[in-house]
Amino acid sequence: MNLSRIRRSSTAGLLPPFLLTSQTRARSSSLVRALVLVPALAFGVACSRPPASSVPANVVLSETQSTRGMVVSASAIASNAGRDVLAAGGNAVDAAIATGLALAVTYPTAGNIGGGGFMVIRFPDGRTTTLDFREMAPAASSPNMFVDSTGAYSASRHHNTHIAVGVPGTVAGFALAHSKYGSREWKSLVEPAVRLAVDGFVIPEGLAGSLRGTRNKLARYPASLAAYYKNGEPYAAGDRLILSDLGRTLERIRDNGRDGFYTGETARLIVAEMERGGGLITAKDLAGYQAKERPAVRGTYRGFEIISMPPPSSGGVAMIQMLNILEGYDLKSAGHNSPRYIHLVTESMRRAFRDRAQHIGDPDFVKPPVDKLTSKAYATELRKTIDENRASVSRATELVADYESDETTHYSVVDANGMAVSVTYTLEAGYGLGAVVAGAGFLLNNEMGDFNGKPGLTDSTGLIGTAANVARPGKRMVSSMTPAIVAKDGKLVVVTGSPGGRTIINTVLQVVLNVTEFGMPIDSAVAAARIHHQWLPDRLSIEGDGVPASTVSALEAMGHTVRMGGRQGTAHSIHVDSRGVRTGGPDKRDRDAGAAKQ
Ligand code: DON
Repeated sequence: MNLSRIRRSSTAGLLPPFLLTSQTRARSSSLVRALVLVPALAFGVACSRPPASSVPANVVLSETQSTRGMVVSASAIASNAGRDVLAAGGNAVDAAIATGLALAVTYPTAGNIGGGGFMVIRFPDGRTTTLDFREMAPAASSPNMFVDSTGAYSASRHHNTHIAVGVPGTVAGFALAHSKYGSREWKSLVEPAVRLAVDGFVIPEGLAGSLRGTRNKLARYPASLAAYYKNGEPYAAGDRLILSDLGRTLERIRDNGRDGFYTGETARLIVAEMERGGGLITAKDLAGYQAKERPAVRGTYRGFEIISMPPPSSGGVAMIQMLNILEGYDLKSAGHNSPRYIHLVTESMRRAFRDRAQHIGDPDFVKPPVDKLTSKAYATELRKTIDENRASVSRATELVADYESDETTHYSVVDANGMAVSVTYTLEAGYGLGAVVAGAGFLLNNEMGDFNGKPGLTDSTGLIGTAANVARPGKRMVSSMTPAIVAKDGKLVVVTGSPGGRTIINTVLQVVLNVTEFGMPIDSAVAAARIHHQWLPDRLSIEGDGVPASTVSALEAMGHTVRMGGRQGTAHSIHVDSRGVRTGGPDKRDRDAGAAKQ
């Protein structure tokens, strides 16, 4: 990697005219300062620049609105790091890298350098691409690796031991993103995370509560206890958290790029951790890790373009499949979260999740029929199997596991030029395996748990045994992560995504429907109660107390088994209106979330 390279992809000429018009800027600047500065400071964001000329001068921009850049993530501190990169002239990819690395410090639940994920990019001219930095199975992996000595499937081996750790992909993914599409010096993107780790940061309420709640899990590993607890006891909100070992690892990444993680001292520490914990990852596995660029999976919904992640994520394919099915119904007349709406959305979920279980795997090993699954013709066939008044029955020879917690994280970035980046990345469970690499200070994933547990074992507890997703050396495990971008008539409309295991796909589907079908503003689209059905278990979950009892009764009368309660993922999103105003939609389900505007 060329660490000194400053700027590769010129965006000159792509600037929307409004960004070049200083006259209007001058005219409106004092008004805007008055209207924007006070709430912006109250919200902890930087001073906004004046609005675009296409935005009438009397339009009041709220603290989560900007005509320039916007970053929305689970951690206001990390959003600010990304916003600062935008303010220094970086593009959305630069900001996404800085935000992602900052989240690895301030949001240890899921922000990471020891995990993996996906990035979807839409360029200002409408081109799209994706980067796959999903973890890979170590060379010593095999389909039966989660089976114990008696031949029985072992959930513990699958999820809670060092063999559940996949070769991390995040640093390679960010390095690839930077080398292909970044514009600022790599070091300047890593430095904010270094500073947060080395100098420390003030622990916000959400993180303090989260660390309190996860103490027993992390206490199994001395390095985790030492890193995240004060003499073994939880920190309080307002305390300063300094992560010195993590800071040194980030310095190596800052100074040596991907090599600072996959070779040298960091790699040595990872291998030592594997040897101590009985894990499989070797120096060769680390050196051989490859992030990959893949074409986005694309669909349409009532004239909106849907852009998302292809396999090894199942998210984009399943969401487009569901949207195709739903396009055949008049959902608006049915009404948001009405019994008919929930029924039709549920039946589309049921069918997409069945196909997901059957077909999706790492495309470097199996050939998921993406074109068929995302075609309008296939959706028409599936629609014929839906009874508009009666729930179908999911029949098991195949089931969907319930093992994920709701601890991945999604963040969204839009820059002043309209470049959009949608990133979902994860350690799998909250805090991953729970193990910090001793001496290197970062948490390891337990992503191997996303491979099928045992070949042929499909049962009513939620295991899938299909061939497409068994572990093999160098293979990527199927994901549900669904970083997504919506555009219309060549213009960016929404950047979204979510954590939440299999609920991810359905959360993103509903945010997209809330905006495209029901015209909700982004904060309402994100906040609205959501539903989830994943084929099997054959159960319809409805978030919180999201619908009235009469709706539940109507759904039960149709044959649905309804479970109320629970919480789906935090879909930190951005909406861009026809004037170019970006509105951040931090999902308030995350206490520390924040939008930072340029
Ligand atoms: O890749 C996946 O689909 C899962 N490992 C994501 C895990 C997750 O979302 C857990 N919590 N949100």
